[in-house]
Amino acid sequence: MITFKPAALFSLVAGVILSLGALTVAANHDSDESIAERISAVGSLCIEGEKCKAPVAKAAAAPTGPRSGEDVYAGSCAACHSTGAAGAPKLGDVAAWAPRVDKGVETLFANALNGFNGMPAKGMCMDCSDDEIKDAVTHMLDNSK
Ligand code: HEC
Repeated sequence: MITFKPAALFSLVAGVILSLGALTVAANHDSDESIAERISAVGSLCIEGEKCKAPVAKAAAAPTGPRSGEDVYAGSCAACHSTGAAGAPKLGDVAAWAPRVDKGVETLFANALNGFNGMPAKGMCMDCSDDEIKDAVTHMLDNSK
């Protein structure tokens, strides 16, 4: 017949609890989450009571690339070319653009860059690159045929 001494029983139970505890700690320690936390970048955003977040990419302060023809049109050309001010051919006015298109797209680029009668050089967008102006012309032509 097997008899348990209380002390032996206690140490058996305590041993099981202790080893379970150790297993749990080990599991937590090596979980993906805790590793990610430990190797996360310095400077990550931590708010009390919330998990730390990875650093947020900073919003671009300056334009990163050339503006699209559509953007340049909206910002610099639409004032005249959507209203027909000063006799500007309107975007979408196929009849107004057809004879201009016949002059050849290179001529239209040149006139947009250098100015042409009531058309101011670069549409007065002095910080526009030549390519941005050409893209704006292309945007107008594409929407006027
Ligand atoms: C202040 C008004 C005004 C602004 C701003 C303006 N234009 Fe014009 N644009 C005109 C006028 C007026 C004409 C017609 C000129 C003519 O045929 O005598 C014209 C004509 C043109 C033509 C046809 C040129 C040709 O040879 O027939 C192009 C291309 C053009 N503009 C592009 C642009 C672009 C691109 C922008 C913006 C970057 C722009 N324009 C901004 C007034 C403007």
